[in-house]
Amino acid sequence: MQSRIEELLRKVEQFKPANLGEIEEFRIKILGKKGELTELFEEFKKVSPDLKRELGQKINRLKNLVLERVTAWKNELEEVESAAAGELDVTRPATAQGIGTRHPISLVRNEILAIFSRLGFTTAEGPEIEDDWHVFSALNFPPEHPARDMQDTFFIEKNPDILLRTHTSSIQVRVMQSQKPPIRVVCPGRVFRNEAISYRAHCIFHQVEGLYVAENVSFADLKQTILYFAKEMFGEDARIRMRPSYFPFTEPSAEVDVSCNLCGGKGCNVCKHTGWLEIMGCGMVDPNVLKACGIDSRKYSGFAFGMGVERITMLKYGVKDLRLYFENDIRFLQQFESVI
Ligand code: PHE
Repeated sequence: MQSRIEELLRKVEQFKPANLGEIEEFRIKILGKKGELTELFEEFKKVSPDLKRELGQKINRLKNLVLERVTAWKNELEEVESAAAGELDVTRPATAQGIGTRHPISLVRNEILAIFSRLGFTTAEGPEIEDDWHVFSALNFPPEHPARDMQDTFFIEKNPDILLRTHTSSIQVRVMQSQKPPIRVVCPGRVFRNEAISYRAHCIFHQVEGLYVAENVSFADLKQTILYFAKEMFGEDARIRMRPSYFPFTEPSAEVDVSCNLCGGKGCNVCKHTGWLEIMGCGMVDPNVLKACGIDSRKYSGFAFGMGVERITMLKYGVKDLRLYFENDIRFLQQFESVI
């Protein structure tokens, strides 16, 4: 009897039904009136009392197993069949969806745009493939200026008039051509420069540039706008300083430094012990640029500024290697705020 129980057990374990009919057949063969298990129960009545306890337990366990399996097989097959028939079980638990995170460059870009929108700046975009006039000539670059050199600019199809924009100032030119002052606009976008890739430089990066053209715009307006931006981006304690600089399209021009937000200006590795971090270039729009774009330079003046989003993100989040932004390593990306 012992061996028959074991044999039946193996049979149940090995059985793989192909459809619901086979399950029912199998059930009858085992549990039906003349079924194998029913027969075993009949025989069990005749078993000597000293074996009853042990065999009774085994036979009952076998019966429970058969009942359990029959239900499990039925559920499995019903699921497969209803899925094949295209039926949708809306009561089934949903498959978990991983929540994505925004790329840090997108996060910071959006934050920059939001800060300037609170000052009344709208957003404008433009083409990445540009011509010489929008990127250089309209912006008062002399013909022999080194930034036009093959070293910095990607030209297209050996036609030096068509190129990948090296800054989003080209968008500002397009805005000045198509709108009348007052103009208050920020221009985000990808820019391209023929630079060797390293921890602090890449041939593709992102900029947000800004332009304000109206009557009586002064350097004081520029300074106050940048100070507001720095405090919103890096915290209430942020201070700025301006150093004289040169750009063909602004006069006077300046580089802006923000007090190092890691050491609070005391000096650390990140700010190279100066207490200051360079964040952008800026200046008063050169009258030649206004003229080239059809704006009366005697009536209107303006300021402009431009910053690299990668750099602002590095300073804000302490990212030490710029290449991380382009590798799409999920372990890096997941450290930034999730979408929801
Ligand atoms: N266009 C400059 C650059 O790409 C930045 C800039 C914009 C500087 C506006 C001054 C004024 O480096």
